[in-house]
Amino acid sequence: MSASKPVRRITIADIARMYEEGERFATITAYDFPTARIVDEAGVPLILVGDSLGMVMLGYDTTVRVSIDEMLHHTRAVARGAKRALVVGDMPFLTYGVSTEESVEHAGRFLSEAYAQAVKIEGGVRSARTMEAIVNSGIPVMGHIGLTPQAVNQLGGFRVQGRSREEARKLIADALAVQEAGAFAVVLELVPAELAGAITERLSIPTVGIGSGPYTSAEIQVVTDVVGLTQGYTPKHARRFGEVGEALAQAVRAYQDAVRTGEFPAQAESSFMEQSVLDEVLGKSDLDQAGKPTSIPLDRDL
Ligand code: KIV
Repeated sequence: MSASKPVRRITIADIARMYEEGERFATITAYDFPTARIVDEAGVPLILVGDSLGMVMLGYDTTVRVSIDEMLHHTRAVARGAKRALVVGDMPFLTYGVSTEESVEHAGRFLSEAYAQAVKIEGGVRSARTMEAIVNSGIPVMGHIGLTPQAVNQLGGFRVQGRSREEARKLIADALAVQEAGAFAVVLELVPAELAGAITERLSIPTVGIGSGPYTSAEIQVVTDVVGLTQGYTPKHARRFGEVGEALAQAVRAYQDAVRTGEFPAQAESSFMEQSVLDEVLGKSDLDQAGKPTSIPLDRDL
């Protein structure tokens, strides 16, 4: 009998080691059990259950509408599917930063109720004290600066951040504040490549870029964008590495055609029973034919 070796979960110490060894790594979002399983089996070390959930899975027009219960529900599914990857739950709009106690309590729910190993929080300097409190309570935090979608109304749309001198300086200060607060990594979203490189050089924690060019320590993408499941607008920074949406549509059309023509389900996809049992159920057994009463009710009596 061969006992399979238990899978060891990746920790923030492993992420730090990969970073120190200069290993550039890919991370990705997932929102459900089967996707988490596929991503995990592919060897991706960190899975983010992003609040992009709202837009790519739940059909909302903004991430601001996503509730903590929705996030916990999907994080639980991902945590069940991912046996090895570090699972990071994204804290939704206003579940942090209003009061420190509530922020810590909400962050804790991602670990105790949804089995994530870390949380992600948007904002640099403005979120640093909250991050510090969460980290001090024993919960690993990943920061997120640059374009922070929960603040899109304040940032004036989904646009590249940090192109001007003031904005760039502010972003460097944000990155340092996140690091100072004890975050184990920081997402840089929609930051010019050169600035993302400069921030990466100044930090001693990994930077995880999205739409921020090639000079970061790691990359993150929204899974639906890279597998080709996103319908409509896809950001410039997202390359389609597959056409899962088209494969899904083709499979559904083929299934529908096969049902319509009677080709599906076939014998191989069906289960069968003893004809004599069915005859008895339907009152067609030898006893029925001979007019003898049987103890089995006929279908007309049921
Ligand atoms: O919600 C999300 O998916 C994210 C990533 C894009 C970093 O925050």
